[in-house]
Amino acid sequence: MDWGMANRMSKLFGKDGNCFYLALDHGYFQGPTHGLERPGATLEPLEPFVDAIFVPRGSLRAAIPPALKAGLILRVSGGNSMVGEDLANEELAVSVDEILRLNATAVGYSAYVGSRYEHQTLMGLSRLVDLCAPYGIPVMAVTAVGRELGQKQESRFLSLACRVCAEAGANVVKTYYTEDFERVVEGCPVPVVIAGGPKTESQLEVLKFVHDGMSRGARGVNLGRNIWQDADPEAMARALRAVIHEQAGPEAAYDLYRSASEARGERR
Ligand code: 5RP
Repeated sequence: MDWGMANRMSKLFGKDGNCFYLALDHGYFQGPTHGLERPGATLEPLEPFVDAIFVPRGSLRAAIPPALKAGLILRVSGGNSMVGEDLANEELAVSVDEILRLNATAVGYSAYVGSRYEHQTLMGLSRLVDLCAPYGIPVMAVTAVGRELGQKQESRFLSLACRVCAEAGANVVKTYYTEDFERVVEGCPVPVVIAGGPKTESQLEVLKFVHDGMSRGARGVNLGRNIWQDADPEAMARALRAVIHEQAGPEAAYDLYRSASEARGERR
């Protein structure tokens, strides 16, 4: 691996090989999502806890301070929206010049395996890898499922989707948690990170699936709503960091959540 690529990969993963990415990219197809109306304000208290943020160029330029310390994973696929005909009709939406201008640590791109737009999105992924490789920029593929998360959140489908993305050249693959996550990881030759999904009923549920996924081989997470839609996003980020980088179990991390939240409540 060339130095530039190795340097960027080292920013995506901590010394322990694990990673905590904060997803702030929802606006590119969902509009002003609750909790992310002002991405700069959402990020400000959370940045110290995360390794990188996942963000589209619009929010980046308008709301994220250029003195950002965390890594930048630039969302480079788009062209769809929640109110459009088919969420899977997405493609490469950002040029390599723009990726370089914005000094991205890595780029993130959605591939819709099993959809009507499988071919288009996979060819776009291969093209993106070809565009980024000469500059040493890693590509994170997102195994996107559109509105069909319920049907597709199982290891047989997800392991196929992850492997297909890795074979297209992705350096990291982001996919949904499933109970037998080791099947997904074993079949994928590049690091796998866990995506979030809709807000869960409890913090402990999130901490448990992250811990379980990592004990089955995931290298970390790319989470959004379960952090910034939480009653106390900062406490949630603190607790997740403990699971990801401090080997905390879910219950210990939940205790940390509660004490961080109480302490902050007393200070307010
Ligand atoms: C949206 C994405 C998000 O980054 C990903 O889904 C993580 O966010 P959340 O935890 O809110 O689901 O790729 O297409």
